[in-house]
Amino acid sequence: MMLWQKQVSASWLVKNEQLLEEFGPEKVAVIARPGRVRSLVQVFCNHRSAADRLQRKFGGQTKKLPRNWLALYQPEKSRAPLRIGNRLEILSGPSGGPEPEGKARLIIPAAGAFGTGEHATTAMSLRLLEETTRKLRPGWRLLDAGTGTGILALAARRLGAGEVIGLDNDSRAVAHACSNGRLNLICRAQFVRADVLAWRPVHRYDFITANLFSELLIAALPIFRRALRTEGQLIISGILRAQTEAVERALDRAGFHLRKKRRRGKWIALLAGV
Ligand SMILES: C[S@@+](CC[C@H](N)C(=O)[O-])C[C@H]1O[C@@H](n2cnc3c(N)ncnc32)[C@H](O)[C@@H]1O
Repeated sequence: MMLWQKQVSASWLVKNEQLLEEFGPEKVAVIARPGRVRSLVQVFCNHRSAADRLQRKFGGQTKKLPRNWLALYQPEKSRAPLRIGNRLEILSGPSGGPEPEGKARLIIPAAGAFGTGEHATTAMSLRLLEETTRKLRPGWRLLDAGTGTGILALAARRLGAGEVIGLDNDSRAVAHACSNGRLNLICRAQFVRADVLAWRPVHRYDFITANLFSELLIAALPIFRRALRTEGQLIISGILRAQTEAVERALDRAGFHLRKKRRRGKWIALLAGV
């Protein structure tokens, strides 16, 4: 395995997005570092000729990687892929292997408390999203409130969303989400620093996902209701079992109809329509 790498500007990434897409998300890493304008782009090539071609075209450096390159280039021991129905799997780092037949891949490296998909609240949201969008024609629009690493918004793009926006009131989460979008070469995913309760939607959405906590969800429901299209659906998670009734009553008051309820341990996730 050969590695080609180079420090690049944001405009280089935009200009060469298509070329990077051709290598596939599991072979390309874009590493943004806090306080640096340039990002490090790394392409893992099966053959020396591909790495040499990149160097001739763009400069940068190439090197031959040792046999244990995966262990060296994954900052933490990689977790087993998280399977979301038959359509998506989520990895913690590049796998080096080909994409499984008919299944999209998303790479979400661990980033503090911001959600890698393993937490029950995120996993239930991902599965509800996969089930609910299975029969939809691609191109739907999603808002992810409290996006963290951007996992739900980026998964939505892989599952057929045409455009997604993720909000978070923590700027570190927004930076992680943007960097995960670049790492996976996903465009039309916007991440914005905003408080869910103060944010004003410019569009109407087909789906809203919100993995937050009960009090905030209850306060945000009227905003979510206004931001959803007539046939829109809402996935909320982060609800403790003891608080489910209060959330269900608030859903009713805000004009939602409960469609599905999922439980894992002490956590509940709900799907509601308008
Ligand atoms: C439990 S994490 C969920 C992350 C990710 N969506 C997931 O499902 O794994 C909740 C996220 O909501 C953000 N958050 C909390 N309160 C918020 C608020 N009032 N407005 C926007 N984001 C908020 C936190 O910073 C955190 O990233």
